Amino acid sequence: MDFNNLFGVEGKVVCVTGGAGGIGRGIAGAFVAGGARVYITSRSDLQDAAAELSEVGPGECIPLQTDLANDDDIAALGASLSEREGKLDVLVNNAALGGFIHRFGELPMTEWDTMMRVNLRAPFALTQVCLPLLREAASSEAHASVINIASVDGVRIAGDNDWAYGMGKAGLIHLTRQLAGLAGNKHGRDGGHNINFNSVAPGPFPGMLDRFLETEEGRAAVGAVTVSGRVGKPEDIGAACIYLASRAGSYVSGALLPVDGGLLVGKQANS
Ligand SMILES: NC(=O)c1ccc[n+]([C@@H]2O[C@H](COP(=O)([O-])OP(=O)(O)OC[C@H]3O[C@@H](n4cnc5c(N)ncnc54)[C@H](OP(=O)(O)O)[C@@H]3O)[C@@H](O)[C@H]2O)c1
Repeated sequence: MDFNNLFGVEGKVVCVTGGAGGIGRGIAGAFVAGGARVYITSRSDLQDAAAELSEVGPGECIPLQTDLANDDDIAALGASLSEREGKLDVLVNNAALGGFIHRFGELPMTEWDTMMRVNLRAPFALTQVCLPLLREAASSEAHASVINIASVDGVRIAGDNDWAYGMGKAGLIHLTRQLAGLAGNKHGRDGGHNINFNSVAPGPFPGMLDRFLETEEGRAAVGAVTVSGRVGKPEDIGAACIYLASRAGSYVSGALLPVDGGLLVGKQANS
């Protein structure tokens, strides 16, 4: 039995897509605080966010600007990581688009395509591109980890005419299970290595919901859908990813971890 350093991530190399704000920032911050070297990506300028996250220390944060809707950008991100690092311990596919709410019969299919491209296609494409680096990180002593940030809306029937988002997240959850089963470990049919694939289903958090969270009433209303009665904090989601990526999570693959304040078991999701 070895209970030492179960949740340690010091020295790990991590990539968090969409890591500058919202949920991604909570994930990146937790790994930097644990002593990891964390690459964050998004379409916008990331210099300030990376500098602020590096201040969290003792790890560091490095920005890599990328448009995940663009295959050349995804390939370039993989190449940049390969130039800088000989391995990638943790890939967190977090970036996604929200919105595109329309009544049934009125959703422009171009919006469906845009959302699926970023929310479902890009995580698969980036995971393929990063596979050689993930394999370098994975050994019999330590697993590499792919963490896909899904949503409670990939599990429940989302309200509000949210057609493409929920479908994309449900697809991401299934993709994660398939990767875990077929490519994840030494029994993987695809010549797998010690790579764990898991998905996390956040409930309400700062980020996409920011416009609802600007007022005390808004926060209370959003938090009320959870059993915890509050909105998630960045460290709630960061801690879940640390668990999955560290030795503590080495026997966990193909799982869906809700980090939702109990939303999925609460009254509103089950009435
Ligand atoms: N917040 C919630 O309540 C909640 C609940 C359930 C699930 N989630 C999931 O959690 C994850 C993070 O959400 P969030 O709330 O933190 O959202 P957010 O604040 O809107 O952040 C999304 C990130 O994705 C990036 N992104 C969007 N399109 C991109 C593209 N084409 N290429 C590269 N990056 C792109 C954005 O950066 P740029 O715009 O600069 O590119 C941004 O950094 C998402 O997967 C979301 O579905 C969130």
